[in-house]
Amino acid sequence: MHLLEDEKQCYIRSAYEACDPAEKEQLLNNLKEVDWTVLENLEKKETERRTFSPIEAVDVRELEERREEFLKAGLAALREGKVGAVLLAGGQGTRLGLDKPKGTLNIGINRELYLFERLILNLMEVTDQAGAFVPLYVMTSDINNQETVEFFEKHQYFGYPRDYVKFFIQEMAPACDYEGRVYMASKTKPAMSPNGNGGWFGSMVKAGLLEDIHRRGIEWLNVFAVDNCLQRIADPLFIGATLVYGKECGAKVVRKAAPEERVGVMCLEDGKPSIAEYYELTDEMRNARTEKGDLAYGFGVILNYLFSEKKLEQVAEEKLCIHVVEKKIPYMDVDGSLVNPTEPNGYKFETLALDMVHMMADCLPCEVVREKEFAPIKNLHGVDSLDSARELMKGCGIEL
Ligand code: UTP
Repeated sequence: MHLLEDEKQCYIRSAYEACDPAEKEQLLNNLKEVDWTVLENLEKKETERRTFSPIEAVDVRELEERREEFLKAGLAALREGKVGAVLLAGGQGTRLGLDKPKGTLNIGINRELYLFERLILNLMEVTDQAGAFVPLYVMTSDINNQETVEFFEKHQYFGYPRDYVKFFIQEMAPACDYEGRVYMASKTKPAMSPNGNGGWFGSMVKAGLLEDIHRRGIEWLNVFAVDNCLQRIADPLFIGATLVYGKECGAKVVRKAAPEERVGVMCLEDGKPSIAEYYELTDEMRNARTEKGDLAYGFGVILNYLFSEKKLEQVAEEKLCIHVVEKKIPYMDVDGSLVNPTEPNGYKFETLALDMVHMMADCLPCEVVREKEFAPIKNLHGVDSLDSARELMKGCGIEL
């Protein structure tokens, strides 16, 4: 076993030594299950980026001016059952410090209002308008699947028909310290964590959901994050605009608050749609302006994309780039003690949904009003927090 022989792998080796024969067998079996190739990404430099250029977006003004046309196209697609929604809820929410699924967070103040509930209510505004339900696929992980399903069951799916909700489990990846030494979660199990939100379509395929998608005649999948409580799901205006423009993909975007804002922006990369991370923009790009005076790279993504399902199947086998991210990773130390770090202590390996945009031939960025549609809850307090999201929800007239 390659990893056990590697002297550097102190956590695995000391766990092995502490095991009795039966446990040793278990440990070896568990190690066999893991895809260790992700560790090779530690040596790789950041993927080389090619040439960036600005991308045309549909802005709020155009969306308003062509509202009827877009709405009609979007509502027709919804009524014909062509749209499915995919809720990405496999993350661990480490920044929030929760030990339960993020969607179970109570975001209310004077009453109970759960994040999952808020999202379903948002979706039901659309399904009421369209007069048709939208199939909802919920991605969970090994860590939170059971709790998530039980939560939906306990709350009767918050009024949504349960026949329209399906859960599927994403893949896991090992985690290691800054030296590439794989952490152990226990004597027999390596420390595994969800492998990012990029593998959602592959995981749907593995879970056998293609059959369901085909049977229902779904042609578009709207994928979105669990932590934006103002998220508009299966938004007919957004769907309609993407259809009318004849694109393979759409991305909801918000106008950057300032050139320096730390948000990934929509752009073209060698002529194909892409997202440039804030640190990838040069000063010149950051401050570049269009003829109208707007920022040329001025539209930030909010993890709400619409993908052609057919296209997703075509690119399903293509490898997504693996990002090495610093996180807090609980682990079992060489002396057998369990450590729960308060600061990041190593790397996790993640693919990202935003990298799928680059696999599409084209993409329509659709501007939405930040205060109405973007309230991410990443932390309890401060920027992108429960506090800031509550203020934004109040501003939208949501009773808390
Ligand atoms: P984040 O990147 O904010 O990660 O996820 P997170 O795990 O929720 O939180 P931190 O970084 O540990 O604090 C953005 C969206 O992608 C989903 C999350 O559930 C959220 O909706 N996600 C993330 C997954 O579905 N799987 C993953 O492996 C990671």
